[in-house]
Amino acid sequence: MAFKRLDGRKNEEMRPIKAKVGIIPNADGSAMFQTGDTIAIAAVYGPKKMHPQHQQDPAKGVLRCTYNMNSFSVSDRIRPGPSRRSMEISKIMEWALDPSVMLKKYPGSVVDVHVNIIQADAGTRCAGINAASMALAHAGIPMKNLIASVSLGKLDKTLVIDLDKEEEDFKEGEGSTDIPISMTDTGELTHIQLDGKIDSKQLKEGIKMAKKVCEDIIEIQKKALKDSIKVEENKKWDKN
Ligand code: CDP
Repeated sequence: MAFKRLDGRKNEEMRPIKAKVGIIPNADGSAMFQTGDTIAIAAVYGPKKMHPQHQQDPAKGVLRCTYNMNSFSVSDRIRPGPSRRSMEISKIMEWALDPSVMLKKYPGSVVDVHVNIIQADAGTRCAGINAASMALAHAGIPMKNLIASVSLGKLDKTLVIDLDKEEEDFKEGEGSTDIPISMTDTGELTHIQLDGKIDSKQLKEGIKMAKKVCEDIIEIQKKALKDSIKVEENKKWDKN
């Protein structure tokens, strides 16, 4: 019998996506990325002088990500403040985005990226990376590429895209394997994690699947960026 996903999606299908750029007026750049019931908001501030000073890099600006899952984002309230998990995901976001940002011209500076998860149904690090990539571009930070991120998964033996929480908790057969992947618009991987088991042949197949989806995400990101320019131009016209 063919494998059926719990919510009826095709194996290579994302949950419904929404993306919007320019949502926080006080930030230098901002964006929202939503897949299904997972919503990430990213705000970028900088480049600005790095504090504390000992973290300054005299050779280049530093990208600093802070990932936060709001207390009310899941049904079991999360204790506010940093946790081991949030600190790990913050680092992962930095590593996923860093190959793309070009901060050579900003020695001693920092670009702060604050990612808040206001609603979580798995895949929050990927949604956060997608939002952050748009927010960085919106802030005018020089970038080689946009970065797209998706969680590839294996439910028992079947590869699927963009697991929700119910799928992440799948226990039948080999259970669920979660493989978040991020890549540039040219298909170069900047981040891959593996929580579970998969053989190399199937992993290659899965990366191909993720690449296709990431291409679609990049198009959605580009459209959201273009739309934000239109909105900002209209605002200027309204003022004049
Ligand atoms: O969110 P992501 O898949 O990147 O990371 P995870 O650590 O594998 O978390 C998977 C999901 O578990 C989250 O998206 C939340 O829906 C849920 N979660 C939770 O309910 N409470 C936590 N303290 C952490 C995660």
